[in-house]
Amino acid sequence: MPKETVTITDNRTGQSYELPIERGTIKALDLRQIKTGPSDFGLMTYDPGYMNTASCRSRITFIDGDAGILRYRGYPIEELAEKSSYLEVAYLLWTGELPTVEGLERWKHGVRYHTMIHESIKKFLDGFRHDAHPMGILVSTVAALATFYPEAKNIEDPETRRIQFYRLISKMPTLAAFAYRHSVGMPYVYPDNSLGYAENFLNMMFHGREPVGSLNPDSHHSPVLARALDVLFMLHADHEQNCSTSSMRMVSSAFTDPYTSVAAAAAALYGPLHGGANEAVLRMLREIGHVQNIPTFVAAVKRGERKLMGFGHRVYKSYDPRAKVIKYWADRVFEVTGHNPLIDIALKLEEIALADDYFISRKLYPNVDFYSGIIYEAMGFPTDMFPVLFAIPRTAGWLAQWRESLEDPDLKIARPRQIYLGPEQRSYVAIDKRRDSVEGNGIE
Ligand code: SDX
Repeated sequence: MPKETVTITDNRTGQSYELPIERGTIKALDLRQIKTGPSDFGLMTYDPGYMNTASCRSRITFIDGDAGILRYRGYPIEELAEKSSYLEVAYLLWTGELPTVEGLERWKHGVRYHTMIHESIKKFLDGFRHDAHPMGILVSTVAALATFYPEAKNIEDPETRRIQFYRLISKMPTLAAFAYRHSVGMPYVYPDNSLGYAENFLNMMFHGREPVGSLNPDSHHSPVLARALDVLFMLHADHEQNCSTSSMRMVSSAFTDPYTSVAAAAAALYGPLHGGANEAVLRMLREIGHVQNIPTFVAAVKRGERKLMGFGHRVYKSYDPRAKVIKYWADRVFEVTGHNPLIDIALKLEEIALADDYFISRKLYPNVDFYSGIIYEAMGFPTDMFPVLFAIPRTAGWLAQWRESLEDPDLKIARPRQIYLGPEQRSYVAIDKRRDSVEGNGIE
């Protein structure tokens, strides 16, 4: 039986070290014993972007990027998308198991009765410019929630964590819908607890608004659209240690409260390379405008001048399984909303890219963001709401990972090391003895 170790020989000293291998990893701290002498700090790893670093041990989500596999607590995403619901998936992510009939009813009842937000929050919602980006509003308002629930700082108490989980899952759609209604100058629509989770959100968003496309007046109550949105919420619920979830774990490792930590995670998600990609995809498709313009755009991507937004992934080096499910639901949604011509451009763009060696050689495939925005637009969501539609469901993943991190005996405050390349020690220079400012110093 081969030993589960690796032997490293330091050619600077000729000394060898045998390090244990556990689940395909070595402990970075085990490298510190590799020194050239007693004053040597010891070896570290250098891994910008954490391309090859496991930051934690987790039992929540499993991804096999080469095989295009995504499972929440062992359940394949395809099965959950077909048979489950977002609230059931949120329960699964948090507890590790699917709920019983009674358990799901208790959970749904609790969510229903936490959807309201404090009336004072409307005062600072009104303080935003009418054209404030809804993600900027959401990040700010979810952080502000911490000031309404100061007891949430007691993060070591399981009961406190449980209550904040209910509150955040329940209130994110309300904050999101209120941000949108503010941006279009329409009165806030309060949560209607007789409606399902996705249906309630659609109602808070679109009640009283002129329906888009071929939608009939109450089409945002369409069961097809509500189910499609609930499936999209499930697909976006968690994705192991992505940028925003890692931000959640990093910020909360300082024992920061969950509202402020979720705000940090949402801030990371806002980036166009992450959850902001769905918004960037729509802007890209609109810029391309027609299938005849695709070759010119693809040529610019291959010259390195543009990115094909919605393509590529740090982990998936084959088709993102979520994109497949989203494509299926696009047709269902268009049956209600009318066809979105942007999907024709997207399908042609995918066809051309997947036949081009530039993308094939880099293993660039459509990711979750490539098609989701097209559905959201067809449903009547404005483009700048798309990252918000990612943040709402990902709150379940952020919080499940937050709970897991706090219950992890290995938990330590995140504090990476660095490779210092700055100047050696030097003495202070009086201002009249300093030479001219360095050109291009980025400040003057
Ligand atoms: C999400 O991590 C997660 O799990 C995230 C997510 C989740 O659920 O949380 O799945 C959600 O964020 C999906 C990704 C959404 N982002 C986009 O669609 C933006 C476009 N994609 C790229 O920016 C990029 O693919 C990333 C950021 C997603 C991944 O970047 P990596 O892993 O750092 O890869 P890389 O930048 O090192 O790219 C490797 C090569 C490079 O070419 P070379 O320098 O080797 O010549 O591929 C190229 C890149 O230039 N490349 C692209 C490209 N993505 C990578 N070229 C053109 N278009 C692209 N989209």
